[in-house]
Amino acid sequence: MKIFYSIDEFLKNQLQIEYFIPTMGNLHDGHLSLINQVKGPSKGTCVSIYVNEAQFTNQEDFDNYPKTLNDDIEKLNSLNVDYLLIPEKYDIEKHSQSFDTSKEPKHITTELCGKFRIGHFLAVMDVVDRFFQIVKPRNAIFGEKDYQQLLVIQELIKICNYDINLVRSPIIRNNEGLALSSRNNLLSNEERSYAAEIYKSLKYAKNLYDDKVKIDDITEQINKYFDELPMKIEYFSIRDLKTLQPRYDDDLIALIAVYLGKVRLIDNIIIKSTSK
Ligand code: PAJ
Repeated sequence: MKIFYSIDEFLKNQLQIEYFIPTMGNLHDGHLSLINQVKGPSKGTCVSIYVNEAQFTNQEDFDNYPKTLNDDIEKLNSLNVDYLLIPEKYDIEKHSQSFDTSKEPKHITTELCGKFRIGHFLAVMDVVDRFFQIVKPRNAIFGEKDYQQLLVIQELIKICNYDINLVRSPIIRNNEGLALSSRNNLLSNEERSYAAEIYKSLKYAKNLYDDKVKIDDITEQINKYFDELPMKIEYFSIRDLKTLQPRYDDDLIALIAVYLGKVRLIDNIIIKSTSK
C-alpha cells in the first residue's frame, strides 16, 4: 500500500482509482468491511483518512474524535488496499472547488440528523465533493450505517453530474447487535451495557410493523421503550427507503438517533422491502 500525505504527489502518479473509500480513521471492522466490497484482485483501491472538522456540529465531539493512525495503517496494510490518502485541509482546499451551497438538496439534508446537526450534511457534501474532484474514482463505497449520508452522496453525484457508481455496504454489528462506530469507544462500561437496546428497539419496531401496528403507534411505542432506559432518544422515524420522506406507500426504513450520556449514536433497520 502506498501512502500519500500530499495531493500533488497523489496527482503526479496519474492513478486510475477504481474504488474510493473515504473515512475519518479510527478504523474498525465496519470500515474494513467496505474494502471487502471490492471483489477480485486489487484494482486501484484508495482509502482516505481525513477528520473533517466542518461536519462536526459540536467542538467537543471533534476534539474527542479518536485518532489512531498507526493502527489504521497496520489494518489497511493487511487488506486489499493500494493507496492511502491522508491529506491536510489546506491541500484539499488548494486542489478542489467548494460545493455550491445553493444546490443543497435541503429535502434530505435538513431532515432527521440534519434537523439536529445544522450544516452537517452540507459539510459532508463539500468534503466528499472535493475528494471526488481529486480522486476521480469510478466507484465510491459508503456504509448503510449512515443511511442518510448515503442518500446525500447519491444526490451529490446527481447534482454534480459525476460518473461515479455508488456502492452500498451493509451495517456491521457486534455480537450484541450494536452497530460498530468509532464513538462506541467513548462509552463507559455502564453505558455500553445499554447500547444494545438501540438495535433491539429497531427490531421491536420491525416486529410491530409486521404485526400491522400503525406507523404513528410504532413511533409512540419506541419513544416509550426509551423512557424506561437511561438514554435519551433524539429522534425515531419511519421513512420511505428511497427518499427518506415521510411517505408510507413503498419500501420503508426506521432510523434512530440516541444519546447515551454525551455520546450520540445512530442506527437504522429496513422494515419493509419488496425489492430483492
Ligand atoms: P466515517 O464515520 O469514518 O465512516 C466512513 C465510512 O464507513 C462511511 O461510509 C460509513 O457509513 C462506514 N461505516 C462506519 N461504520 C460502519 C458500520 N458499522 N457498518 C458499515 N459501514 C460503516 O462517514 C464518514 O466517516 C464521513 O462522513 C466521511 C464520508 C468520510 C466524510 O467526511
